Amino acid sequence: MPKESNQLMEKIVSLCKRRGFVFPGSEIYGGLANTWDLGPLGIELKNNVFQEWWKFFVQSRKEIVGIDPSVLMNPKVWEASGHVKNFSDAQIDCKKCRKRYRADHLIENNINTNVEGLSLEDLKKLIDDNNIRCPNCGEKDFTDVKKFNLLFQTGIGPTTVNNEPVYLRGEIAQGMFVNFKNVLNSSRKRLPFGIAAMGRAYRNEITPGNFIFRTLEFDLMEFEYFIREEDWQKKFDYWLSEMDKWIDLIGINKDKTRVREHTADELSHYSKRTVDIEYKTPFGWKELYGLAYRTDFDLRMHQEASKVDLTYMDPETNEKFIPHVLEPTFGLSRTLLMLLLSAYDEEEVENAKGNKELRVVLRFKPNIAPYKAAILPLMKKPELVKKADEVFDLIKNDFTLDFDQTGSIGKRYRRQDEIGTPYSITIDFDTLDDDTVTVRDRDSMKQDRIPIGELKSYLNERINQ
Ligand code: GAP
Repeated sequence: MPKESNQLMEKIVSLCKRRGFVFPGSEIYGGLANTWDLGPLGIELKNNVFQEWWKFFVQSRKEIVGIDPSVLMNPKVWEASGHVKNFSDAQIDCKKCRKRYRADHLIENNINTNVEGLSLEDLKKLIDDNNIRCPNCGEKDFTDVKKFNLLFQTGIGPTTVNNEPVYLRGEIAQGMFVNFKNVLNSSRKRLPFGIAAMGRAYRNEITPGNFIFRTLEFDLMEFEYFIREEDWQKKFDYWLSEMDKWIDLIGINKDKTRVREHTADELSHYSKRTVDIEYKTPFGWKELYGLAYRTDFDLRMHQEASKVDLTYMDPETNEKFIPHVLEPTFGLSRTLLMLLLSAYDEEEVENAKGNKELRVVLRFKPNIAPYKAAILPLMKKPELVKKADEVFDLIKNDFTLDFDQTGSIGKRYRRQDEIGTPYSITIDFDTLDDDTVTVRDRDSMKQDRIPIGELKSYLNERINQ
């Protein structure tokens, strides 16, 4: 990783903690590796992204409905779906320091080669042949490579029912497959139609890391789009282009994305075709989103295992068949990181005293910015604060707002720049006379004088364009 890139991640991690986007998990107890908590700004950002996603993919489409399935499911779900057997990564341990690695990551971080599809034995041979050493202790004494299942296990009640482990869901998708018939019967949808959901997914990752990029629990938004088999290619192209529009909609830097086709060896056990939308992070090209053609695999497996009929009956032709499925999947936690990387900017500006200083700006698109505007009484004088309270109350139901009354106005503007607030509204002594306020634009730093009565429409025009 080039030094500059390293610095960018460090700056983002530091800004996130300092300003309240992301905090290290359980920090007062020394933390728990690779767990992170969203702070006041992080939760606003996440909610905004989720709401935009729901609006774009669910609310605005007649044929897509949402559900909210459980994290805990009958373990038979994960057996039937193939996750108990196949949802695993290749693990290797250093015998000296006992550090655990994903074998493919260990190789890729040391030699420039593609390891997709290699057997466990081949991975071990590559590590041995290339004299790859343990990054932690420098030794070359590894165990064999073995499969490590990513499903987190837990138990229900004082003793696990029938001694069977229960799993925390590794993807949301299965909650939608097991509800296929319920949704079909209750919503009376006809093919093609989709079921969407958002929520927490859990994976016992061998090598989590890179801040919130790869964690043990994360938020995921995905939908299963049920189709006739013959339509899959056409619909695949359609959803890929819709995913591209989504990237623009929330302001992920398009120049840093690319589409990468999975090789045959790399495909998940359920997929016939998958493409990843990747983002060029400071730590390399990494998967952001995926689009998979899951065929009829999941419904077929669940029908076989549950003995419940999961076929679809075409009301016009009376044909009965198991629908095929396209699945666009969007890591929500990962989206937050890519938005921070896309939005982060620094520029040299002149401060009020004429000295040069560095301005850090998160150039979020207004639709996803945690706060749409900040209400700033020029000074902490009762009459100004009272007027600022009135302005806050006037627009608080329309926009998420920050309210900041302490410190110099210049410093407060900088703080709002750093958290990506598109507009700062200053209440000064003129406001008390003529009911106008100053609205400062985060990007241009230009200021407009606006009557308070026009504030709502002024902001609406700019934020909801
Ligand atoms: N239902 C399909 C599915 O789960 P996936 O590619 O395994 O597909 C979906 O995961 C998305 O979840 C990825 O594209 C990525 O954005 C995100 N993701 C996967 N593992 C993650 C992790 N450990 N931490 C954060 N996000 C993760």
